[in-house]
Formats: sequence, C-alpha cells, structure tokens
Amino acid sequence: MTTPAAGEAPDQTAARVSALRTAINEANYLYYVLDAPTLPDAEYDRLLRELQEIESAHPELLTADSPTQRVGAEPLKAFAEVAHTIPMLSLGNAFSEADVVAFDRRVREGLERQAFDLENVVEYAVEPKFDGLAVALHYQDGLFVRGATRGDGFSGEDVSANLRTIHSIPMRLATEDPPAWLEVRGEVLMLRRDFERLNDIARQKGEKTFVNPRNAAAGSLRQLDPRISAQRRLSFFAYGVGRVEGMELPETHAAVMDSLAKLRLPVSDQRAVVSGVAGLMHYFTALGERRDRLPFDIDGAVYKVNRLADQVQLGFVARAPRFAIAHKYPAQEEMTQVESIDVQVGRTGALTPVARLKPVFVGGVTVTNATLHNEDEVRRKDVRVGDSVIVRRAGDVIPEVAGVVLDRRPMRDLVTPQYPPFSMPLACPECGAPVVRLEGESAARCSNGLSCPAQRKQALIHFVSRRAMDIDGLGEKLVEQLLEHGLIQTPADLYRLQREPLAGLERMAEKSADNLLAAVEASRGRDLARFIFALGIRNVGEQTAKDLARHFGSLEALMRADSATLQQVPDVGPVVAQSMQAFFAEPHNQSVIENLRLAGAWKDGEAQPTIAGKLSGKTFVLTGTLPTLSRDEAKVLIENEGGKVVGSVSRKTDFVVAGADPGSKLTKAQDLGIRILDQATFHELISHGEKT
Ligand code: IVH
Repeated sequence: MTTPAAGEAPDQTAARVSALRTAINEANYLYYVLDAPTLPDAEYDRLLRELQEIESAHPELLTADSPTQRVGAEPLKAFAEVAHTIPMLSLGNAFSEADVVAFDRRVREGLERQAFDLENVVEYAVEPKFDGLAVALHYQDGLFVRGATRGDGFSGEDVSANLRTIHSIPMRLATEDPPAWLEVRGEVLMLRRDFERLNDIARQKGEKTFVNPRNAAAGSLRQLDPRISAQRRLSFFAYGVGRVEGMELPETHAAVMDSLAKLRLPVSDQRAVVSGVAGLMHYFTALGERRDRLPFDIDGAVYKVNRLADQVQLGFVARAPRFAIAHKYPAQEEMTQVESIDVQVGRTGALTPVARLKPVFVGGVTVTNATLHNEDEVRRKDVRVGDSVIVRRAGDVIPEVAGVVLDRRPMRDLVTPQYPPFSMPLACPECGAPVVRLEGESAARCSNGLSCPAQRKQALIHFVSRRAMDIDGLGEKLVEQLLEHGLIQTPADLYRLQREPLAGLERMAEKSADNLLAAVEASRGRDLARFIFALGIRNVGEQTAKDLARHFGSLEALMRADSATLQQVPDVGPVVAQSMQAFFAEPHNQSVIENLRLAGAWKDGEAQPTIAGKLSGKTFVLTGTLPTLSRDEAKVLIENEGGKVVGSVSRKTDFVVAGADPGSKLTKAQDLGIRILDQATFHELISHGEKT
C-alpha cells in the first residue's frame, strides 16, 4: 500500500484523479475532435502535470485509459499480429460519371426485390475518401484495448501504442452503457498543417523530408518507437464499424456515424446523405471544389448504400463490397522522370532551377516543368537528371517536385560522374556574367543587373504588368518581340514607340499596333505607388511601394532619402533600405528614370510622412495588466513614437509588453524568441529608443 499524499485521504486523491482525467479528456475532445479549444495550453499542461505527479505517487490509481498514457511508451522490437475477425476489404473505383451510373445500376439490380420508394432512387451515405491508412480500433466494455493496421485485410499489425498518441482517439467511449465489443474502422492521416510543421523541423535539422502527408502518416504509424510517433501529430477519422457485440446498430450507415460521433469518436463533418446518381455527382463536384481548402488530403469521395439491411443484401464481390464505391478525383501526384534541370534568370537576377520533365498528366493538366525553387531545395531533395520523381499539382498551385523515388535510382549511378548531384552554374546562363550568392540569401544571382538580357526582359514584363503600370495587351510574348526587334531596351523606350515599325511585327495588325500605342498612352501619369512598384526594386513589393509613395510624396524625395529616413516607413528595415539605395545609385537606373520622368510616366503626390519616432516601424503586442498604465495609455505612448500595436503575436512582432496574468500571447512570444518588456523596460524604450 502506498501512503496517501500528506493531508489527503485516498478517496479524495482518487476523486481528484478522476476530476483531472475528465477535465483533460474534455479539453482533448474540444481541441482535437471539435477543433474548438477552450483551455489555455498552460492550464492544460498544469492539469496533466498534476495528474502525472499523483499517478507516480499512487501507481495503484494508474489506468490504461489515463490521458497520461498517450505520451509514448517504450520502443517495440516488432509489431504483434492482429487477425481481423471481419476482413478489412478494399473498395472498387469509379473514375467517371459513367462508372457511377453503372455502380448505381448494379445496386438497383441487386436490390430488385426490395421495396423502393416511388422513383426507385437509392439513398447513399457519402463521405470523403481520406488519403491515409486504414486502421481498426478495438473497444472492450468501452475501453480502448487494441488497434491494428489493415495489413493484407485479414491480419494487420498491432500499433496500439502509436494509436494511443493520437489525441482525438478516445481511450474510453463516452457512454455510461458501453457495448461489450466495438470495433471502429477509420483512417489515420496527418493534417496538412502538421505535415508542414514536421517537414519544417526536418529541414531545420537537415534531415530528409516526407513527400506527402500520407507517407508521413504511414511512417509515423508504423514506427516502432511510440515516443517518435507522439511527436508527429496524427489524426483519425472513423468511417464505419467492424465486429460489434452488445449494441444494437441503427438502420443506416449515416446513423451509425452519428452514434460513433456521440461516443466522441472523430467523424468527418463533410458527410452527407444524398439520393441517386444526381445526388452523388452533385456531392462529388461540391466536395471537389472544397478539396484544396480541407485540412487534410483526400483522393475521392466514398459512396455507401445507406440502409444497412440493403448493404447485407448486396454483399460482396471478390474483395470489395457491392454496396460501396470510391469515386476518385484526378490524381494530384504522379511519377515521372527528370530529363534535365535548367536554370532560369528572374527579374532581380535570381537563378531558379527548373526541372524539365517527361510529360505527365497530373492534377488535371499535362505538366512538363516544375520549379525547384533554389539551390538548397535541389540539394535537400537531391533531385538529379534521370531521377524518377513525384510531381505534385494541387489546385491551381504551380507544380512542384515533391520528392525523388530513390529506390528507382540505380546504386552505381550514385557515384558515376554522369549522374552527379545538381550544382548551380558559376556563370549566368543568359549573359555569362559571374553568379554570386550573398550570405544569408537562398538565391544565387546573376551579377549583371539590367545588362543581362534575361533580367531586362523580366523587368520589362514586370513594369507593364497589371498591378504595376498596367499597360493593357502588352504581354510576355509581345515584350519578347519588341526586344528581339530592338524596338525597346528599357521601360522608357515604351513611351517612344512608333506606329510603323510596330505594325510590321509578326501577328501585329495595324489595329493592334494602335491599341498598344493607346494603352501605353493611357499609362502615362500613373500614381507614384504603382510606378515605384513597377521599377521592380528588390524587396519592394506592392505594399511597401504604397507606403513609400505616401511617406515621400515624390520620387525625388524618395531617391534623396538616406537609409535612416527610408526606415521611418513601416516595414522598411535595413535590408529594404539598402536595396533601394543600391537601385537608385545605379547610373543606368538613374537615366532610365530620367527618361520616364520626361515621358510623364508617373505623377507625384503629396507627402504624408509616417510619424518619425523612436519606435518607427516597430510592432507591439500588449498582454496582461501593467502596474500603472492602462492598455490605451500604453498604446498612445507607442503610437506617439511611430510604433504600431497589433492584437496577436507573430514573427513580425518586435516587442511584447507583458503585465500581470498574461495570456497565451506571452508563451507564444517566448517560443518565437520575441523581446518581452515589463512596464519599467517599456518606459526605458519609450524614452531612449532601442539600444543597439
Ligand atoms: S469504407 C468495405 N470509407 O479506402 C468498405 N474507406 O479502398 C471499407 N478509405 O482501405 C472502406 N476513406 O483505407 C471507407 N470514407 C471511407 C474511406 C475509406 C478512405 C480507404 C480505406 C480503405 C480504402 C478502400
């Protein structure tokens, strides 16, 4: 017998343990299942710690379903085998509306003797096809006792320890009257945000990243060390039941899902019940439109005859049920080969490696190129010419190489010089000038500025683009033609274009020559913000251009400004200031700007300087109660010095001013390494500015 904690009787301790478990389970449910957190993280941690302490002082109170048991047990040598009493089958696939029509016809034929409603229309329960791994969870008398992978459908692996680390899986069903046995079937997956986070961490550590959330989920679920699984956040969604004893099943699949939800098992909120082929197709389209916004990957929709009695009547063919089918979306990932890796030169000279691919149909289009972003990215993924790669195109996002299929790279090729790792060229592929890569920058750049034809072309395309000078009808192809024929070299030349040589260009009828000239004409006198943005100064985006225009009012004032003055503008720091000064110091740029001035390309406005104070450009977050200052007073002090107060902490926050009883903002600031001030240090900052 262990002695109870000082001053506490054992039954009080037991009561406390039970209260703590209830509170923690409730918080888990709200956070992981309903996605509606209520308890602050710090409070949750405190409750969990208290429970851990009591349990270690009173091991007799420890139970398998305690929330403390999720953290990750000792590593295993191998997974035990678990037989599936009812086999875990797969689904047939439909790829077109015709396939869906045929499925529905087979269903109706199979149910021939069944009493239908008037139109003979079948009711279907529909849900997403989760792109993860199937598992079965075993609950005995309401308690989670075991969980297994699908394996070959007849037996799988006992991954209970890893499943326990998934916070949305209840360790005890939420009912007073649990069934003797309940086998819940569903899918383990990794949410996209958890996948990104996992890969971010891997990248920071220089480790290999996962190609997609599904592989990450598979790797984590079949991980022999549950402590590793515990660090990789997995999710679970139930989509059905297996062996059930001591529980009356309702009449429909939809109602089964509702009762699982009542037991606090996570079920998808994308479920629906529809009628007939029209209902199925409508759901398929609507879900497809939401697909990219869902928090996890799906690869289709699953249609199930809703009435369980009908399901039984329809039965199975081979290894798939007749009552259900998976309707697939076009794959967002395919495998293909890298034929070459080209290097493109962008507007600011940045070199971008681009994989030229053997054409592959993915995400609804044929893809032949995929960006590899930069040198580090190619190295990290170790993409080489000749490799088999996974190409991903999700939604309208530009296609990317998600990863290399290393199994398909013959060993000898790892060392042969014909098959070397990628490296950046030392000279610009367009103009031959030296390539430089500054410390702390991810991009290697051509050092030739606007003397490089590629940079010149991109700069021109940017100058005329819609959000810049907005010269209508002047697209990439036409810019190329104008350059080729020597009709323009710099943006200023646009304003000197003549009708005759233009009309002589290929595919350029007189009418379109006139249209172009009119569009150029119409772009004269654009406001200063657009013009600044159009110049294409490195690190000066649309918003910064607007801020600069408002602050300085005229281009002349902007060009004269020293670094400190530039930095009075919000979000302009030393790096942006340096880019601008370098740009305006270039004699070539000065003469182009002078010619643009003569052409009346822009008109200056009125200067509305940002308050130049000690805190210009600094962002603050206030949390907790300060000893003598109210929030509003603190805000006024900050704004008087040109600083800004925002509501939430992010990487862009410079300071967090924290008083008594601060909220989660303080924890977040600490996590991000943001400077935290109390009232005294805050006053210090207001009176003396930032000490460097
Ligand atoms: S029901 C007898 N529903 O798809 C029918 N499966 O090809 C059993 N899957 O192994 C499956 N989402 O991993 C069903 N909403 C869903 C699903 C789903 C994904 C997976 C599951 C299964 C595979 C069948």
